[in-house]
Amino acid sequence: MTLRFTNYLIGIIILIIAGCSQQPETVDELDSKVNDLLAQMTLEEKIGQMNLYNGFWDITGPAPQSGAAADKYQHLENGWVGAMLNIHGTENVRKIQEIAVNESRLGIPVLFGYDIIHGYKTLSPIPLAEAASWDLEAIEQSARIGAIEASAAGINWTFAPMVDISRDARWGRVMEGGGEDPYLGARIAAARVRGFQGEDLSATNTIAACAKHFAGYGFAEAGRDYNTVDIGTVTLYNEVLPPFKAAVDQGVRTLMNSFNILNGIPATGDAFLQKEILKGKWAFNGFVVSDWGSTGEMISHGYAENLAHAAQLAANAGSDMDMESYAYVKHLKNKVDSGLVDLSVIDDAVKRILRVKFELGLFDDPFLYCDPDREKEMVYHQQHQQAVLDMARKSMVLLKNENHLLPLSRGRQRVAVIGALADDNNSPLGSWRISSDDSTAVSLLEGMEPYGAEISYAKGADLITESATFLQNVQINETDKSGFREAIRVARRSDIVVMVLGEHGFQSGEGRSRTQLDLPGVQQELLEAVYEVNKNIVLVLMNGRPLAIPWAAEHIPTILEVWHLGSQSGHAIAQVLFGEYNPSGKLPMSFPRSVGQVPIGYNKYNTGRAIPQDNVFWSTYTDQLIDPLFPFGHGLSYTQFDYSDLSIEVTGSNQYEVKVSVTNSGQIAGEEVTQLYLRDVAASVARPVKELKGFQKYSLAPGESKTVVFQLTEKELGFYDGQGNFMVEPGKFQVMVGTSSVEGLSGEFTL
Ligand code: GLC
Repeated sequence: MTLRFTNYLIGIIILIIAGCSQQPETVDELDSKVNDLLAQMTLEEKIGQMNLYNGFWDITGPAPQSGAAADKYQHLENGWVGAMLNIHGTENVRKIQEIAVNESRLGIPVLFGYDIIHGYKTLSPIPLAEAASWDLEAIEQSARIGAIEASAAGINWTFAPMVDISRDARWGRVMEGGGEDPYLGARIAAARVRGFQGEDLSATNTIAACAKHFAGYGFAEAGRDYNTVDIGTVTLYNEVLPPFKAAVDQGVRTLMNSFNILNGIPATGDAFLQKEILKGKWAFNGFVVSDWGSTGEMISHGYAENLAHAAQLAANAGSDMDMESYAYVKHLKNKVDSGLVDLSVIDDAVKRILRVKFELGLFDDPFLYCDPDREKEMVYHQQHQQAVLDMARKSMVLLKNENHLLPLSRGRQRVAVIGALADDNNSPLGSWRISSDDSTAVSLLEGMEPYGAEISYAKGADLITESATFLQNVQINETDKSGFREAIRVARRSDIVVMVLGEHGFQSGEGRSRTQLDLPGVQQELLEAVYEVNKNIVLVLMNGRPLAIPWAAEHIPTILEVWHLGSQSGHAIAQVLFGEYNPSGKLPMSFPRSVGQVPIGYNKYNTGRAIPQDNVFWSTYTDQLIDPLFPFGHGLSYTQFDYSDLSIEVTGSNQYEVKVSVTNSGQIAGEEVTQLYLRDVAASVARPVKELKGFQKYSLAPGESKTVVFQLTEKELGFYDGQGNFMVEPGKFQVMVGTSSVEGLSGEFTL
């Protein structure tokens, strides 16, 4: 880490400590302020706090005089807008805030929310890529950078972290989360909340976070976005809820409910989720916001008769704020007047919302986040580029490296670089870059320039046939192979070929579910055509989801998974290709052999027919293996880590200490992620064949050894039954500690 960057970090820490200098208000002081304000509010003003509008006019222009925008403008003046989204920039935020604070009767400041998913202007890797780093400090720092830039631009609330667990790569939003595993997902959720919220929400460089989408969204049937979710409560408690609970335990101030129905009930109208679990069992004291229009969508779900009924159902189920359905602002007063929604429901929601505003310091200074000088200084800060570069390097996963084609040697090799994505400044930004600027990423070609290799580039084929946007689907080039000849020519006369293939940045993300998981368009044909003339291929995969690439896995000697790595993508990839950084990532999601295997995950249940038979009567396919192409937790290094001396010792009641020795037996330093998996062999609720219950990432010099120690307690040994009771049961446990979910040393103990 350069000295300048260290100084910058020290500066951030000082800023945060300074921000903590004022003694935070006690809960009682805060509550009394909230209650005092609530007592002054009319019913309309209370309901106004529960109303979240999208930015509704070009603020640099005159106030809207007619239509829906004029109504929203009037509501802002009336104090009937609690929050807005998609407004950014200190000038724009100040203009809105001045109306809310100066025009309305009570002058209650507005919250400004935005999807700061992996950065505001300076973009870090997509969250699934960050998850592949297994580096919680780096992930926290990445969220910190997003909060610093966003808060400098007037934003005080982010709709992140997205913590939906999913094993279905058909679902486009896997790019936005922490992967397939609840343990890793929970640790990442907590790290991102820490990064966004810091130690003090009233500091100028921290923002309220929002764990989403509550709950079960990642289990959409057939991987089709917004589709039905029908899962058992054992899955709900053990796999879906843990990351949300981790976020709540970390102090996340808001949650967003999800579009899907969960077991027949739309999440937005689900009192079991929002009141019984979240606000009841978990004692969550922040607020819940609906997702875009999800309140009104309960009509389409067949759950609400009309918008007024939807308002009643959602409010009574604990959905505190309505995003862009206008259900609350139009109908909630009537529902209260007619006794179908009790005033206590409104008061509870409004107190939750006001509390967050007080915690953010907005009542002390509504323009706290509106400093244009700070905006100029912090947005796109050079030190942020260094931070996201560091995050990007750590996020890549070396899937294969036969013949040690990587790292490339500098300058002495004729390198062919083939693939449209190698020259793409846009795709590496991923699909959730709406607050940033298109085509601002460093491309791989640009990143490779300084290394002096003799590089020949050939596109081979366009990936898309027309430019894409956040709102529109990409059009994939399925036919044009006119660039193949040039690509083959270039490959034929090179020592090594770096092929950059994968998905456009807008091929994953919201609304981007796919029924196929292969390389889109003509890329597979291009890969095979080049392979015919030069087999020394390094395949660089640039994608937002696991892909099914069985041909490549069989034929291509080296495969590097780089995902969509954000602003510094090209520099990060080049540093790994040329060995300046030794790859250390591990897969947070299994890569399937074919889409027919999906959903697929390492922590599957054993079934009663797990043992291969010499007949068809066991749990397998007639046309495919059942294990993934590349498993969860898999990732190679340019060096080699050897495991030995696994030991398991009892250290107390239901407490064990597990140790293993790891040696770097290679010639260069590297980072390893040692993973610990458990299986409760026989329990009152069947448990998966293994579950991640611990991991540690560390560096080892060549020849260096380390004893990695894990503590097992009831927290790791237990599970939830179908009623949500946490159980720790006696019996045999199997332990595996190693370098992936399929490679390690095994042992067992009896609890
Ligand atoms: C979108 C997404 C949600 C996002 C919200 C506001 O539809 O589902 O994740 O935060 O709307 O943009």
